[in-house]
Amino acid sequence: MPGNILVGVGGGIAAFKAAALCSLLVKRGHSVQVLMTKNATRFVQPLTFQALTHRAVVTDTFEEPDPSEIAHIALADAADVYLIAPATANLIAKLAHGIADDMVTTTALACTAPLMVAPAMNVHMWAHPTVQENLTILRRRGIHVVEPDSGILACGYTGKGRLAEPEELADAVERTLARRRDLAGVRVVVTAGPTVEDIDPVRFLSNASSGKMGYAIAEAAVARGATVELISGPVSLDPVAGAALTPIRSTQDLLDAVLARIDQADVFIAAAAPADFRPVERLPHKWKKTEGTPVLALEPTPDVLAAASARRRPGQVFVGFAAETRDAVAYGREKLRRKNLDLVVVNDVTEPGAGFGVDTNRVVILDDSGAAEELPLMAKRDVADRVLDRVADRLRANRER
Ligand code: CTP
Repeated sequence: MPGNILVGVGGGIAAFKAAALCSLLVKRGHSVQVLMTKNATRFVQPLTFQALTHRAVVTDTFEEPDPSEIAHIALADAADVYLIAPATANLIAKLAHGIADDMVTTTALACTAPLMVAPAMNVHMWAHPTVQENLTILRRRGIHVVEPDSGILACGYTGKGRLAEPEELADAVERTLARRRDLAGVRVVVTAGPTVEDIDPVRFLSNASSGKMGYAIAEAAVARGATVELISGPVSLDPVAGAALTPIRSTQDLLDAVLARIDQADVFIAAAAPADFRPVERLPHKWKKTEGTPVLALEPTPDVLAAASARRRPGQVFVGFAAETRDAVAYGREKLRRKNLDLVVVNDVTEPGAGFGVDTNRVVILDDSGAAEELPLMAKRDVADRVLDRVADRLRANRER
């Protein structure tokens, strides 16, 4: 699917790789419009990009060749995707804080198309907390950060900071293009966070789920045009703009909320970590120490995903998660079968950077054909999009059947 790609080039030595990227995008059939910062033009001449893209390169916000329009607004409006590559530490800081003092950053504010940022810089600059915090701000806003590679850097250091290769950047741009509104009209129900089982009015059983994975899925689904119902246990996350939020507390509440919505849903994604056991009895008053040490009798809670799956109608796509601490893939396969699912997203929560509370995850996506797709460590928002790519494929296949 060819698109209008805006490429913003920043002032780093990796600007030369942006020329290869533009050439590749043009070869793949896209229209490419390049914007450069003044410093970028010190590394590569605008003429290089003009010759590759057959379009004049814009370097100055105040250069207005066509009096009938305002260049940065017209270019922003025409874009299907805006990729900034290389994104220097300075550009990343400006993007994170809304500074718009050149053509690249001004257009970023005016652009409503998906924004992608491909950083390139020295290894110490990359690791600097300021840069990492600014990237966290960008990711939180749904901006896709294409991680730099590790290797020998122009500054002589070896480490992380090298601009991703043109092939990889072009693939990432095309994935973003394909995702635009690919879930329009699709009704998605997502569960997220822990559930809480009360023991008495002040004590409860729960778990360490932060809800971040489920919220990232809801956010990504909204961005792709889906109608999203987010059913969430108690978490300390901001609601997802554009998704209908139903807060719940116990696993029974979660079951009721899911069963009330499942028949109308096209997709069910169970990212919640429901408590598997609850006290047989909830004490009406706070248990006093003077009353002795209580013995808690527990009973299993309902399995929400299994109950919803039992009512599953043809064409619906069901996705489960499996948070494991050992033999993750084997347990994942078993859950896929037992709960009758299309996909299971498995992660080993004991691995660094994966699981509860963190912004990243390392997962394996299992499907009912027995295939396993192992993804590298990536932002939960990116994991969300990879999972939704698979869901979109399934919906398409179901429609064609
Ligand atoms: N799940 C659910 N309701 C429950 C428990 C789990 O809907 N009461 C869903 C989760 O949202 C997740 C999947 O089932 O998508 C896997 O949850 P997990 O607790 O790991 O699986 P179980 O098979 O229930 O537990 P175990 O690991 O003990 O086998």
